[in-house]
Amino acid sequence: MRTTLNILVFGSGAREHAIAESISKSPLLNKLYLAEAGAFDLGEVIEFSDYEDLAKKCAVLKIDMAVFGPEGPLCDGIVDIFKAHNLPCIGVDKHFSQLESSKLFGKKFMEKHGIKTAKYEVIADIEEASAAILSKAGNKGKFPSVVIKADGLCGGKGVVIANNEAFAQRTINEFLEGKFGDNSKTILLEEFLQGEELSLMSLWDGKTLLSFAPSRDFKKLNKSSSAPNTGGMGAFCPAKLNEFQRKKLDEYKNKLKKSLELEKADFVGFIYSGLIMAQKDGAWDWHVLEYNVRLGDPEAQATLAHLKTDFLEVLQAALAQNLDKIKLDYNEDISACLTLACEGYPKTPRDRKKITLPEETAENRDIKVFYAGVEEIDGEMYSKGGRVLSLCTTSQDPFWDLKNFAKEIEMENKYFRTDLEVR
Ligand code: AMP
Ligand code: GLY
Repeated sequence: MRTTLNILVFGSGAREHAIAESISKSPLLNKLYLAEAGAFDLGEVIEFSDYEDLAKKCAVLKIDMAVFGPEGPLCDGIVDIFKAHNLPCIGVDKHFSQLESSKLFGKKFMEKHGIKTAKYEVIADIEEASAAILSKAGNKGKFPSVVIKADGLCGGKGVVIANNEAFAQRTINEFLEGKFGDNSKTILLEEFLQGEELSLMSLWDGKTLLSFAPSRDFKKLNKSSSAPNTGGMGAFCPAKLNEFQRKKLDEYKNKLKKSLELEKADFVGFIYSGLIMAQKDGAWDWHVLEYNVRLGDPEAQATLAHLKTDFLEVLQAALAQNLDKIKLDYNEDISACLTLACEGYPKTPRDRKKITLPEETAENRDIKVFYAGVEEIDGEMYSKGGRVLSLCTTSQDPFWDLKNFAKEIEMENKYFRTDLEVR
């Protein structure tokens, strides 16, 4: 009997690079396969025509576990297809993936289970939108910010915070007119909450909800509060919490676990809760801003760097419904990751610049270089635009180390945030 595992990692970003790297270090690994992989060279790439074809190939290769990184395939039902071939999966099934693919599904889940979140209204036509915005504008002379969210997946571009009526109306019109196709034909108009955000990533095995140390990401392009949102310019783990915040987080985790139990959710996969500590009706508590059905990017890179426990052992325990027996161990120091992007990101990312890493290798400096948007041509590394590298380390002052390393990377028009700090 084999005691080591054949693993498939699906996805091409820095998060998937970090997942594959963690798995590749595990003594439990027999062979690593990659599907829709990026430029990282950590396993054998499986080419496929569609998910059914991939599942058939994985069955022939005797894959013991398929780990899915991005939301797209999960929301398209890849786990359901793999399960039909008896392939064990770490990934949320199509039904529960609606927690991410439909903001309305997420809100109804929260309402049903008494999970705190921002108040919202559903808007399906422009007249309804005008009335809703006007009722929010009220008579106090100051327009309160409203959050406009497209119901469906919009590649991180479906959430807009509007501070004036005209902008709110324009955004709603664009969404309803199909800026993101059918995905923005239904809109949620949400109350604006103010407070500190927190990312909580948990693994559900059908019985136990095991949460990783909470982390924080930096979504804004720069430190200005009006800067555009990005896919994430950096993250760190663990986030520091005071006793009250920790107590409230434990209450939230229990509530999420009970909700999944009541729903009889029988997938094995990650649930990401985007939380905000906000005051509503006089009481401070964690409120859910969003659910994702995957690990966060870049939170995964920082969290996996912080984790000492063998990640593959955790995933194996999840498939055996043994997460209750796992105790997660972490490094003492803080882990962080810093995104190196092309200038112009996220609006007009520039393409194809040569990347030269510093002479003193990343390895010697305990820095990991994960590929977000990199291609290799004739042995040289080139950027593909957008987010290019995700630099990751664990130390007493990780952002200081990462910023120094990023400064030394040669890439024309590189951009990274120099103000990031653990807080
Ligand atoms: P989402 O894609 O839903 O995570 O939203 C992206 C970002 O928009 C969040 O991380 C928050 O910074 C912000 N956001 C979303 N919903 C709200 C809200 N109701 N109030 C304040 N900020 C929000
Ligand atoms: N960092 C937030 C996300 O992955 O959606």
